[in-house]
Amino acid sequence: MESGDDFAARRALLARLPLFGGVPPEVLDRLVLRLRLQEVPARAIIVRQGEQGGELYLVEAGELAVTAEAGGKTVRLGQLGPGDFFGEVAVLRNTPRSATVTALTAARLWSLVRTDLAAIVRQSPVVLAQLRATMRQREVANALRALQ
Ligand code: CMP
Repeated sequence: MESGDDFAARRALLARLPLFGGVPPEVLDRLVLRLRLQEVPARAIIVRQGEQGGELYLVEAGELAVTAEAGGKTVRLGQLGPGDFFGEVAVLRNTPRSATVTALTAARLWSLVRTDLAAIVRQSPVVLAQLRATMRQREVANALRALQ
């Protein structure tokens, strides 16, 4: 059993995330019950480039580095912090992870599996539109970087 405090804290976190800005309150209430907390120490690898994965991650606290291997070198693609999400590429495209995400500091993350995300998206298509928009921005940025 989880306490009401846990529920309220998770609910408040979701309401603060721009990704869920257009989601009706009753949908957010159901989403809260699907989130899984992952507290990771600094230097932990959360997702690894090339591995299969079906979860989207929401960052509540901490800083994370996004890196990729290219031509035998490790390239820094970006940095993520509170309010950001990651993992949308593998979830939406059904492909292996496109990059490695590593905690730079201790971090508090919430994960959501593909089937639960799909249920939210059915009720709030705006979430899918936002996930896709961010995914495309990141893919374009990564492609431009690869050209340099
Ligand atoms: P996915 O491919 O599932 O796993 C690695 C994740 O890193 C990817 O989804 C994106 O969420 C994230 N990512 C990839 N490129 C960038 C970038 N340039 N900036 C921030 N995050 C990124």
